Amino acid sequence: MSNIVNIVIDGKEVEAEKGAVLIDYLFKQDIDIPHFCYHPALGTDGNCRMCMVEIEGSKRPQISCDTPVKEGMVVRTQGENIEQVRRDILELELINHPVDCPTCDQAGECKLQDYYMAGGFYESRLEAESKVKAKKAVDLGKNVMLDQERCVLCTRCTRFTDEITHTNELGIFSRADHSVISTFPGQELESDYSMNIVDLCPVGALTSKDFRFNQRVWFLESFEAICSGCSKGCSIHVDHKKEKYKDDQIFRFRPREDHDVNGYFICDDGRLSYKDENDNRLNDASINQETVSTKEALTNIADVLTANPNDTLLLVSPFLSNEELALIKEYTLNNGTTLSGYSPQYYDESFADDMLRTSDRSPNRAGMMALRINENEKDFNELLSQKKVIVVIENSYFEDKAELFKDKKVILFSSKDTKVKEFANTVLPVASFLEKDGSYTNSESVTQHIKSGIRKNAPVGTLTSLWKAIESLSKEKA
Ligand code: SF4
Ligand code: SF4
Ligand code: FES
Repeated sequence: MSNIVNIVIDGKEVEAEKGAVLIDYLFKQDIDIPHFCYHPALGTDGNCRMCMVEIEGSKRPQISCDTPVKEGMVVRTQGENIEQVRRDILELELINHPVDCPTCDQAGECKLQDYYMAGGFYESRLEAESKVKAKKAVDLGKNVMLDQERCVLCTRCTRFTDEITHTNELGIFSRADHSVISTFPGQELESDYSMNIVDLCPVGALTSKDFRFNQRVWFLESFEAICSGCSKGCSIHVDHKKEKYKDDQIFRFRPREDHDVNGYFICDDGRLSYKDENDNRLNDASINQETVSTKEALTNIADVLTANPNDTLLLVSPFLSNEELALIKEYTLNNGTTLSGYSPQYYDESFADDMLRTSDRSPNRAGMMALRINENEKDFNELLSQKKVIVVIENSYFEDKAELFKDKKVILFSSKDTKVKEFANTVLPVASFLEKDGSYTNSESVTQHIKSGIRKNAPVGTLTSLWKAIESLSKEKA
């Protein structure tokens, strides 16, 4: 029997899957139904009543988040009647809400504000002084703040801690219009995923301690990327901005819905790892600790590599993209140098869990393996003892092992200011993980592409992509 039924939405005949949740179907049709409590990851709760639609044959409007699609259903999402119902519910939601959008960190990405602007616009029938007051800045733990007055009691946050992380830190306390969200006495938000409730919260009640009052969201630009915090490679949005007289800076990562990788969420460590992109950058090329131009450093590197190809070991890492690794591998095949991907320092068993986090804290080991780049320890140690020129490419293995460089010439390609710089003969800064385009293959063999949207116009001479550097070396050789 076919699972497809015919229904009518706002006068238009359409086909839909029988039994599907009506609100999901409406979202898929790009029909924006106001809603607070429904979220596809948390399912139906039915407490906010904002998602009302008219269904022919029903005496009263129905909530679309708890209505299954049925054959012959005739649904109206627009019209004076249903819009009046939504306005009335919105008025109820706003009864005790503070009138302080201009000072709210969520302004610009708040559902309550959006719905009011779209369909509200009425004078409050309540004096500001008669609103029920609640606590304004409640510290819920290391990463999240709560403003109880702004909460619309949608319970997304409590359901997340109950059903997704199973850490159960949050609950609703007191009754009726004095109900508030809080942690249980003596408890704090402890989960490694707690910051997801900030994204889930449809209003400005839950905010990230790290991001709050840092930036107005309408000034930020955004591009899609992946997190490099572990081999899961969660899909993210990167929000960034170039302020006057400053470099383009990243202000936050947000999870990007991706059902092949991370679903709706990311971990807190990954979310806060945007700071690594901004901080501790290597900016100057140098030869024997003297600052030089990128071109001078590249010419010097080309001279050293051309003179000693058979005596050269290139050490790459799983932080490089598939394209960079393929190019470097091609370079070694064409020039007689040797290649290793030895990088045990990125493994950390204590980081792994049964949600998203993996024990390999690098984004592209699967890509490196697919290119058959050898990361065997014994082979690496043997090569290290034989070769006189070591080219370290975005690999932190030698960070605390400078003694291994004794009697060697060291060339460093790095986006980070690292201790290895002090022992390197030639240093070349390169673009960071999010400053370059490229593809990465995660631990489940999903390959994702990044098209960077940040610092594309870095001044020539201070920063070069590894891609360009290797290409230029190949040309020098030709
Ligand atoms: S704090 Fe936010 S997510 Fe939690 S119940 Fe209130 S409005 Fe909903
Ligand atoms: S699970 Fe891994 S890839 Fe995903 S956000 Fe956390 S650190 Fe990043
Ligand atoms: S979204 Fe349907 S009742 Fe809240």
